[in-house]
Amino acid sequence: MSGTEQRNGREIDKATDTATTGHEWDGIKELDTPLPRWWLWTFYGTIVFAVGYTIAYPAWPMISSATSGVLGYSSRANLDASLDAAQQAQGSMLAAISATPVAEIVGDEQLSRFARAGGESMFKVYCSQCHGTGAAGAPGYPNLNDDEWIWGGTIEQIHDTISHGARDPVDMETHYNIMPNFGTDGLLPADQIRTVARYVASFTGIEGGEATPEGAALFADNCASCHGEAGGGMIDQGAPSLNDRIWLYGDTLPDIVAQIRSPRHGVMPAWGARLGDDAVKQLAVYVHGLGGGE
Ligand code: HEC
Ligand code: HEC
Repeated sequence: MSGTEQRNGREIDKATDTATTGHEWDGIKELDTPLPRWWLWTFYGTIVFAVGYTIAYPAWPMISSATSGVLGYSSRANLDASLDAAQQAQGSMLAAISATPVAEIVGDEQLSRFARAGGESMFKVYCSQCHGTGAAGAPGYPNLNDDEWIWGGTIEQIHDTISHGARDPVDMETHYNIMPNFGTDGLLPADQIRTVARYVASFTGIEGGEATPEGAALFADNCASCHGEAGGGMIDQGAPSLNDRIWLYGDTLPDIVAQIRSPRHGVMPAWGARLGDDAVKQLAVYVHGLGGGE
């Protein structure tokens, strides 16, 4: 072969001045270029490390478990330990929340701060899809930041509403009151619905509103028992005030006509049975602290 020469008993490739291994395929010879030292030692090092690791830590799968390793390490036990520590830190606060009536939590600075933080994160999970992330509400879902309360804004009333909901189909203590379907059940003819709607609209100067004596009479006969003589609403009836500018179902004359004709009956789920009273207390403290709480 012309490309190689013999030197010190080895065959050297002349072009690269490198020894060959002597292997040859179709006239092409393999050069003998060993792996770099550092690479080899690193490689041996990883093997030694791997063997040591499998002895020290859980590694080899067995039939129903795995080798546990001489150090006895377990990531599950570690997690349990840190969960225990976190729970212990929270535990004393939660126990205090549990033992304290909700009205007294509000008066205790440390407890109410803890409750409000817990309530805020639960609100994002359970309540924001209806009431909005900042509890600002949406059509049909009340704003919880304002001073208007359908079912009352004291801490106990808020606690009660969250616990039992409104028109919840299952909770026996749920707030319950149904505005009659004046139109769809034929209780009032269409022209009288329009007349009383215009009367209601006149409370807040809504366009199309008009305070006629017929409207006032219809209101007194059909509406005042729930919404109050002057339309100020009644908390024990869950009937919203009609003489402020806060509207659940819209602030135009057609919205008011629609509500009288065929009222919507908003459902607020009951949370007491689902989340437990400690959670409801924290939610109530959070909602009460939003600014509208009485
Ligand atoms: C499925 C939608 C929905 C979800 C989820 C929901 N709510 Fe409500 N909530 C309502 C509706 C609708 C009303 C109004 C009920 C009515 O018209 O009487 C309401 C009313 C309320 C009220 C009374 C407001 C007032 O003016 O008296 C409070 C307080 C309240 N919700 C808190 C919460 C909290 C806290 C959560 C989460 C644990 C929550 N809600 C989750 C729909 C919802
Ligand atoms: C039996 C009690 C009851 C009677 C009677 C009643 N309402 Fe209501 N009304 C309610 C309740 C409860 C709501 C709230 C419905 C809800 O939360 O989904 C409501 C809601 C409304 C709303 C919507 C308020 C808003 O914020 O969007 C209007 C408007 C209204 N009523 C007008 C009337 C008029 C006008 C009459 C008389 C013709 C009347 N209601 C009679 C209980 C009553």
